[in-house]
Amino acid sequence: MRAVDIIEKKRNGQELSDQEITWIIDQYIQGEVADYQISALLMAIYFQGMTEHEAAILTQAMVESGDQIDLSAIDGIKVDKHSTGGVGDTTTIILAPLVASVGAPIAKMSGRGLGHTGGTLDKLEAIPGFTIELSTEEFIAAVNQHKIAVVGQTGNLTPADKKIYALRDVTATVNSIPLIASSIMSKKIAAGADAIVLDVKVGSGAFMKTVEDASQLGQTMVDIGKKVNRDTMVVVSDMSQPLGKAIGNALEVKEAIATLKGQGPDDLTELVLTLGSQMVVLAKKADTIDEARKLLTEAIESGQALEKLKEFIRTQNGDPSVVDHPDQLATAKYQIDLPAKSSGQVAAMEAEKIGLASMLLGAGRASKDDTIDMAVGIVLNKKIGDEVKEGESLLTIHANNEDVEEVKQILYDNITIADQADVPELILNTIH
Ligand code: URA
Ligand code: CA
Repeated sequence: MRAVDIIEKKRNGQELSDQEITWIIDQYIQGEVADYQISALLMAIYFQGMTEHEAAILTQAMVESGDQIDLSAIDGIKVDKHSTGGVGDTTTIILAPLVASVGAPIAKMSGRGLGHTGGTLDKLEAIPGFTIELSTEEFIAAVNQHKIAVVGQTGNLTPADKKIYALRDVTATVNSIPLIASSIMSKKIAAGADAIVLDVKVGSGAFMKTVEDASQLGQTMVDIGKKVNRDTMVVVSDMSQPLGKAIGNALEVKEAIATLKGQGPDDLTELVLTLGSQMVVLAKKADTIDEARKLLTEAIESGQALEKLKEFIRTQNGDPSVVDHPDQLATAKYQIDLPAKSSGQVAAMEAEKIGLASMLLGAGRASKDDTIDMAVGIVLNKKIGDEVKEGESLLTIHANNEDVEEVKQILYDNITIADQADVPELILNTIH
């Protein structure tokens, strides 16, 4: 086979064979096919698209390009969840103990964050003593005994995706539905998922700008899942404003604890129950979404979910007393309110830019080696649709540095107050 023939075939809009896709990915990983040829192929895929079958074969080829985590020693159906780039998205820390508390095993390998706040691992490390470094044996034993463990990712998973993503980033080919779908699905499958729940965000800062595009991406992932035997469900959700009220590491952990106590923000609680219900159904711990939602609601009301959070923290050497005393978590030196400059309704709060403001306070990493400040971030006091009076606090900045003028300016530039607001719907679509 020759790479040039495969590129030409896709350029002309023809369907590639399984052998062609598998061969070119394999040769690329071995260094036998050049970056410029894969770049040309990616651009051809960008314009010509891929069939469901091609996207499934590409997914499988990327899975097989590296290590695959074997979770077969864990009892039950392992459901993994992934969100495509949220801001202030605390869902994993809430969902993992919640879903585990009704018996679905959560064996999660998570990453560190780049951008607005830390990732799930960084946030868990805001809990004193918490370790994300378990051996494979400890990880498996923890999930079998407690139904939950979250660790740092080890091994060389999907190297083909890493190399291809780096090329897409510099060749204007990130925004292709089959390429995004195979990238996301390959990582979940290599990490050992039996079934997958995906939260596809829609909004100005997200990959997908419209509900239609996000739904098409979701449908493509559901179709790939069918072909590779991983039952997949998708929620399309709004990200035109940050989810919940807290953005920042310790602040989001506090928000997660409050949500597991039944005292979380409405939107965050709703998204967690929607995603959690899908996870519980896929894990076969309930027959229907309604039944699953009832189980999860009861787990919050009875305190069972909160107990599971304590058990999870204790098992990974953390101090579970933070659950009853969240004020033990890191707190910033300064709490600075951002007063509204006019009266009206909050009409826009650009999620991505509010995330950027939080990163500038030190909550996130601009580059991989930056350290993050667990204590800092932003707490929204108003959300889209809320009435606000001139001088009233829109949000509270939690900072360890008194000078926050630049951050305030970014926030003012990206929050709009108008006479009337359109309140976005949170759950825009579900696909199975
Ligand atoms: N997230 C991914 O993991 N891959 C993509 O291609 C886009 C978003
Ligand atoms: Ca949040």
